[in-house]
Amino acid sequence: MRRAIEWDGDAIVIVDQTLLPGTFATQRITNVDELIDAIQRLAVRGAPALGVAGALGVALVAGRDDASELAERLARARPTAVNLRWGVEQALKELPNGPQQVLARAQRLAKADEEINKRASFRAAEYVKAHTTRRKLRLHTHCNTGWLATAGWGTALGVVWHLANENAIEEVLVDETRPLLQGARLTAFELAEAGVPYCILPDSAAATALAEGRSDAVVVGADRIAANGDVANKIGTYPLALAAKHHGVPFLVVAPESTIDAKTLTGKDIAIEERDAAELGDLVPDGAKAFNPAFDVTPADLITAIVTEDRVWEPATRA
Ligand code: MRU
Repeated sequence: MRRAIEWDGDAIVIVDQTLLPGTFATQRITNVDELIDAIQRLAVRGAPALGVAGALGVALVAGRDDASELAERLARARPTAVNLRWGVEQALKELPNGPQQVLARAQRLAKADEEINKRASFRAAEYVKAHTTRRKLRLHTHCNTGWLATAGWGTALGVVWHLANENAIEEVLVDETRPLLQGARLTAFELAEAGVPYCILPDSAAATALAEGRSDAVVVGADRIAANGDVANKIGTYPLALAAKHHGVPFLVVAPESTIDAKTLTGKDIAIEERDAAELGDLVPDGAKAFNPAFDVTPADLITAIVTEDRVWEPATRA
């Protein structure tokens, strides 16, 4: 099975996701500077995969005197996904026990991620079936939450894998996910490889698709979930949730417990990464002012359920 990120000998090996879907190439990463660069240009991305990157990154530096400083730099490489710092902190716990123990912990974390994703997405698939009526479902998703975004299997896209195995998917609606097209490039790539029918739509058509009754449920991932159930995820998730609520379509967030940040009380406390205006494309005039946040916050009251490996949390009904 191919993996978005794994350890090989003395290096981290990632699939360079900036090249997909045209080119499938891996990159060997042997130091923290290379890893931070790969994280910042989104060669490795997705909250659970960033957690694994954080942990394996500590394994890269575990023998060094400046390991803690390098780990802190790594944890700051991207601000929104709590999993990156979480992964770094998990691995740092083993630092006093030596590099081998750090690596062993990071590898256990990677293995556990796949199992956790399978459990969370299975629970979410059961929830979707219980809250919809069709035998073959049309699921709507945003960004990329499959094996490329995790150590294996996927979170929201994992729901699709479970249902596809039961022959219960009619079609997956894939928001293209402006501006970096994680949906059109990466989710479509995963679905095509798996032979699951899909339909790409511009983000701006998502509300219309929901209004026309084209999807039975929306499933997305998360980068950080605040204690009150507000969810930071890829920019465009919030308007999708607004439209789903308006049209009475269940809106599910599927994520590991490690994405829930009890120290962040509400969505207002979540740091949102802003990215370079150049990412908006070549058609923007030189020097144009731009607002390019990489994530948005969906308020808890728009979310039907947050599903993790341990529980179904219905924040709208509890608020
Ligand atoms: O900027 P990205 O591509 O790292 O953003 C990814 C997302 O927003 C995902 O939806 C989220 O990390 C969950 S991945 C299982």
